[in-house]
Amino acid sequence: AALNQTKENIILIGMMGTGKSTVGEILAAQLGYALVDLDAVVVATAGMTIPEMFELHGEVYFREAETAALRSVLTSGDRQIIATGGGAVLKPLNCELMVDGGYVVALTAEAEAIIDRVKGDSNRPLLAGNAEERIRAILEERKHAYEFAHCTVNTSSLNAEEVAQQILTHYR
Ligand code: S3P
Repeated sequence: AALNQTKENIILIGMMGTGKSTVGEILAAQLGYALVDLDAVVVATAGMTIPEMFELHGEVYFREAETAALRSVLTSGDRQIIATGGGAVLKPLNCELMVDGGYVVALTAEAEAIIDRVKGDSNRPLLAGNAEERIRAILEERKHAYEFAHCTVNTSSLNAEEVAQQILTHYR
């Protein structure tokens, strides 16, 4: 991909349960970059958990905090592995910030793999109720949302190490 950004960040995008955080840890260790979990930045800044934010202030509030966190992380840092939340790509503005701020890698997975990885997790308000049904619906809603990435890795039949190695092959 022809890249015009000046920063050496790697930005991981993809649905919940595609392994962004785990793969991010491996990449950060291998490259000696800082690992930044965007959800964690939002939580630390807001002083409450993601379920609390959705419950008390609604999703729109969370999305605004997420954009602010993304902007601040991209403005202030470099040589970072940034693991984003699955919905961070929903705003075109965020996608622009990402493409300008680093090498954007999309992780994809089949519904079954995602369901398997996120089951029993109570920290994702969008999956409240019937998680399996919600995942299938969200995957359908977002089926093109991750296509702007500089590269895409299908993680369904790979472990996190293998995903990280594939990303490094493209990145280096
Ligand atoms: C969301 C994904 C979550 C978190 C929030 C919303 C989404 O991050 O940002 O619950 O809209 O897909 P993960 O992708 O790390 O689960």
